Amino acid sequence: MSPFDVSRTLPENATGAALRADVLHGLTATPKTLPPKWFYDARGSELFERITELPEYYPTRAEREILRTRGGEIAAAAGARTLVELGSGSSEKTRHLLDALTGVEVYLPVDVSESALTGAGRALVAERPGLRVHALIADFTASLTLPGTPGPRLVAFLGGTVGNLLPAERAVFLASVRALLSPGDALLLGTDLVKDEGVLVRAYDDTAGVTAAFNKNVLLVVNRELGADFDPDAFDHVALWDAEREWIEMRLRSRTAQTVKLPALDLAVDFAAGEELRTEVSAKFREDGVRGELAAAGLDLAHWWTDREGRFALSLSVAR
Ligand SMILES: C[S@@+](CC[C@H](N)C(=O)[O-])C[C@H]1O[C@@H](n2cnc3c(N)ncnc32)[C@H](O)[C@@H]1O
Repeated sequence: MSPFDVSRTLPENATGAALRADVLHGLTATPKTLPPKWFYDARGSELFERITELPEYYPTRAEREILRTRGGEIAAAAGARTLVELGSGSSEKTRHLLDALTGVEVYLPVDVSESALTGAGRALVAERPGLRVHALIADFTASLTLPGTPGPRLVAFLGGTVGNLLPAERAVFLASVRALLSPGDALLLGTDLVKDEGVLVRAYDDTAGVTAAFNKNVLLVVNRELGADFDPDAFDHVALWDAEREWIEMRLRSRTAQTVKLPALDLAVDFAAGEELRTEVSAKFREDGVRGELAAAGLDLAHWWTDREGRFALSLSVAR
């Protein structure tokens, strides 16, 4: 058996159908929204990698510090033979986890970005003889099924990506993650923490404009896939902190009154001057909130680790 293979959990045309449904629903809603998973075509995945290297974007460095310093404790607590990673992207930080998890035989990265999965999977098997990598092109918010692999299983969900789900979506998602686990299996969850507003906003509005390009990439995806005529230059990137809901929102603000045509949907969408389209929510967390959400899904928080500056947390919870 090859040490690296890729499979899809959905037929190839399902992605197109899901994009059409999301765009139709989101652009006809008030206020207008688009789900963040559509940022991540090959260009979007590359832009995200550049974001992780920006001076303003602390979450990647903070989470890497925790993985480096706590790898041994994570390995001892999880004792995993299979590592599943949701939203794995480039799997860059996962290397620290794989270094520590010496008992892992199979790595199952799951992502919507085929380019990120194949790049990461090929590199990992070349670097680590003996590791089997089975990449899954799948939406982790749709009911996931995983191939049978040796237990115990550790599911990692890094990068604070869980914060891109709205609270009700998170409850459904965490319950679905619990369903992938047997009692005693574990979830390693990365959560960005509530902090100073200026630090948070700068992380989503860098001076080099990389996050702005990432945000506008969703318009290019819709243009390419649905024949739409969005002009990315006719929108401004906006990042703002919602103090009540404790989340960052990324939006695209229409510079002028304009109409965008989407022939594949037989739709024309009017934007008023200044009207905003929400493209991402990124919730920030506190320990008690994370503990409660995990418990509601049948997961008991066993460890809570933060970086030295207390900006980001990794929690390890165990399935009841
Ligand atoms: C914020 S990035 C984090 C990447 C990496 N885990 C890290 O920590 O740097 C989110 C990743 O999740 C993937 N993703 C977003 N929504 C997804 C979904 N609904 N299903 C599967 N993958 C998704 C994206 O393609 C991207 O690779």
